[in-house]
Amino acid sequence: MPEPKRYTVTAALPYANGPVHIGHLAGCYLPADIYVRYLRQKGKAVKFICGSDEHGVAIIMKAKAEGISPQEVVDHYHETMQTAFKGLGISFDIYSRTSRKIHHETASDFFLKLYEKGAFTEKETEQYYDPEAEQFLADRYIEGECPNCHFPNAYGDQCENCGTSLSPTDLIEPRSRLSGATPERRKTTHWFLPLDHLSGRIKAYVQSHKDWKPNVYGQCMSWLDESGGLQARSMTRDLDWGIKVPLPDAEGKVLYVWFDAPIGYISATKELLGDQWEEWWKDEDTSLIHFIGKDNIVFHCIIFPAMLMEHGEFILPDQVPANEFLNLEGKKISTSRNWAVWLHEYLDDFPDQQDVLRYVLCAAAPETKDNDFTWKDFQTRNNSELVAIYGNFVNRVLVLMQKYYEGVVPKPGSFTDVDRELLNLLESSPEKIGASLEQYRFREALNSYMQLARAGNKYLADEEPWKQVKTDPQRTQTILYLATQVCAALAQLGEPFLPFTSKKLRSFLGIELLDWQACARQEFVAAGQLVSKGELLFQKVEDEKIDLELEKLKQKSMEKTVVPSEPLKEEVAFDDFAKMDIRTGTILSAEPVPKTDKLLKLTVDIGVEKRTIVSGIAEHFKPEDIIGQQVSVLANLAPKKLRGVESKGMILMAENNSGKLEFVRPGESFENGSVIR
Ligand code: MF3
Ligand code: ZN
Repeated sequence: MPEPKRYTVTAALPYANGPVHIGHLAGCYLPADIYVRYLRQKGKAVKFICGSDEHGVAIIMKAKAEGISPQEVVDHYHETMQTAFKGLGISFDIYSRTSRKIHHETASDFFLKLYEKGAFTEKETEQYYDPEAEQFLADRYIEGECPNCHFPNAYGDQCENCGTSLSPTDLIEPRSRLSGATPERRKTTHWFLPLDHLSGRIKAYVQSHKDWKPNVYGQCMSWLDESGGLQARSMTRDLDWGIKVPLPDAEGKVLYVWFDAPIGYISATKELLGDQWEEWWKDEDTSLIHFIGKDNIVFHCIIFPAMLMEHGEFILPDQVPANEFLNLEGKKISTSRNWAVWLHEYLDDFPDQQDVLRYVLCAAAPETKDNDFTWKDFQTRNNSELVAIYGNFVNRVLVLMQKYYEGVVPKPGSFTDVDRELLNLLESSPEKIGASLEQYRFREALNSYMQLARAGNKYLADEEPWKQVKTDPQRTQTILYLATQVCAALAQLGEPFLPFTSKKLRSFLGIELLDWQACARQEFVAAGQLVSKGELLFQKVEDEKIDLELEKLKQKSMEKTVVPSEPLKEEVAFDDFAKMDIRTGTILSAEPVPKTDKLLKLTVDIGVEKRTIVSGIAEHFKPEDIIGQQVSVLANLAPKKLRGVESKGMILMAENNSGKLEFVRPGESFENGSVIR
């Protein structure tokens, strides 16, 4: 593609069912913001579009869990997210929301246009219906036993235990999560986008984008190659929350959330630009770029492009930079388990330190594979990189400038080889950093940027102007002149990464933000200009603060979080219950089963004999902590081989709503083999 005339950059519309956490930021919003700030500094025409995704089952579930209306849920979280993004300096040109009238109209019109073109096939299918709640059930509303791993609480779209994706009809003994009732199958009509017709064009489109990141391209190709090819997908749902299907006879039906949400990018652009919006979506000279997390790849690379193709007037996404996932302290971030660092809380706990989070999340971004955020790493990066290198360097320069020259930039003398090396680094940095950014290599870009601070810091330490000043005033002038230029380059090129710091530093130096290209120079502040003594750019983060954050994380994840409690199971006859032989026992030994994360091999004394039992509790307990523990054992469970180990019986556990496990046992110690009934 020749140099685009303009860039429409979007960041995935986050669901308004919870606040923003560091995983969202590192995966999508921060790289998008860095990229957009860079484009702006290059003088490119760019619009940065985002907003809240307020429809879909995710919102309804949250409302149900909290006992409030979906509208109340989205009103609350839209506000929280918008404020938090702003607090971190995420510089959207617009942050809209899909409940706006303009979006309902845009999405309806889009649907009608496809309808009139005959793009949909109308099909009657059988779907689960909850006779008690009197409604059709979205896949997530149905629960049952996983046909694959036999986990009892798998959802209709996926088993969270083994990760298999499912259809509700795959579940063994399905039940409604709304009422617990056994759902019945009823006929319902929906509008399907027959992706199979488009598969040739979609494949050609994807294959013309070998420039996409390997994780993105790979996932698309494997989707396209999957046996059976692309299936028709229903673009409507039986729900009472969302955008009404704009057709007669469509009572009680709304647009599928993944149909309406990406159109939200278009509606928001309209809202921002009025009549001017079209060239940002229809002109071939526009580059359309979607920043997303990896769970959104298929929707942005296949389904949304298919919608745009069918519509016919739109350009297609040019780039879809998706990141992998960020974990937290070695565990998957989870909203429902409250295992997350929330942006709004960070902003409260670390006032005026937005750039530290931006720095750490960019440095540890899960660009090519999942990555881990730890508070310890946060502290180290702050203390030994931002404080000890960047901040220390800038502060020393500014203090010495005051001390020796009252802040007036001195005239340099002739340059040594070392000086010239530094000057070359200054001149070449913009291009080097820019090249990385243009390839969506944000960590690499940040690293090249920090290279400037490292080089400046080393230069000062090696040249020791505080010694030179006594013997060679001329040399001292050169050193401080040069060091000031490095500070200025940091201020200029830091704008995409560390906008708050960058702005402060420019004000200390009395300089305006330059165009990116104009930064390829050796002098930013001329001799004779005045610089101020500034203030410290970064604060040390103490151990206590980190301990506090870790403590808070643990505390919160223990608190009872709101997840719908498990419905009661069907009744059983006493005789069935009485068949179970449950005994007290004591764990004699425990060791992990090799090559598994979840399993422990236990030896348990159940009075009458000693048993080997394999139990899936390794993520909850350390072997050494449970030896001697009294437990309850289902003793007559049929033996089963797990990872090559024969397990005879099962340990009974209680699990609370936040997923915490406890052993079930008598209140006081009983002799092994006591009967439980
Ligand atoms: N709300 C979705 C999520 O959080 C993302 C929607 S992106 C859009 O996973 F394209 F549909 F807007
Ligand atoms: Zn499963």
